[in-house]
Amino acid sequence: MESEPELLHPWQDEPVDYRCVALRFSRGCGLVGSGIVLPDRIARAAPRRRAEWLAGRRCASEALRLLTGQGACPGMAPDRSPVWPDGIVGSISHTGEVAIALAARAGACRGLGVDIERVMDGQGASEVASEALTPRERCHLANDPFLVTLAFSAKESLFKALHPLLRRPMSFHASELIAWDAQGRARLRLVEELSPEFPAGSEIEARFARRGDLLLTRVLILV
Ligand SMILES: CC(C)(COP(=O)(O)OP(=O)(O)OC[C@H]1O[C@@H](n2cnc3c(N)ncnc32)[C@H](O)[C@@H]1OP(=O)(O)O)[C@@H](O)C(=O)NCCC(=O)NCCS
Repeated sequence: MESEPELLHPWQDEPVDYRCVALRFSRGCGLVGSGIVLPDRIARAAPRRRAEWLAGRRCASEALRLLTGQGACPGMAPDRSPVWPDGIVGSISHTGEVAIALAARAGACRGLGVDIERVMDGQGASEVASEALTPRERCHLANDPFLVTLAFSAKESLFKALHPLLRRPMSFHASELIAWDAQGRARLRLVEELSPEFPAGSEIEARFARRGDLLLTRVLILV
């Protein structure tokens, strides 16, 4: 079963005009009527991987259509990052049953990252905390599965937003969650230099929104 892509407005007062589109999907959803051609490596993948890839691309295509008037399916780079049309930045994420994509004009925004996660349970949070949190984060966040999920998701969004600018791998320990509030604002601080433009100590804002047991985060790198 698959829902139609739906335009969402998870956050108010955003500094950039972007389109955010999500849909629900299940493992068996197919290509019928989508008009999207699967790259070879996705065509050969397991049904679940095909379904999530396709659901993400359907969201991306609809976000592009709503933004520019022209839908297009982003390509796939060898490193798996999506290849957006010229002049567009965007990002895709999926859990087992929900996919989401954001797209904005590159003139308004240099990087855009989105991530969706199921809020972890205690055991999941403790496993993720030991891998993805810095020692200081472990001190302050590790007892709260929601905050562990938030730190993890915000770092994934940050990585996706910076990837087109840096084109390099990034450790989960390169940044830490230093603040969050009830209005869905969070801040990450870099604990190591990523580039001369992103030195240690730089702070980057993230937004988050909880919908049931799902947590959504986004990071924008402004022009
Ligand atoms: C790339 C990565 C962030 C994807 O996260 P994920 O939990 O597997 O899955 P999500 O559903 O959130 O996102 C997957 C989508 O991210 C996008 N993506 C993949 N690689 C990407 C990259 N290098 N840059 C930007 N977007 C990327 C793709 O669109 C992908 O979906 P698709 O393969 O169906 O097209 C993650 O797998 C990864 O490699 N992490 C290691 C590096 C990292 O996370 N660093 C963060 C520390 S700050």
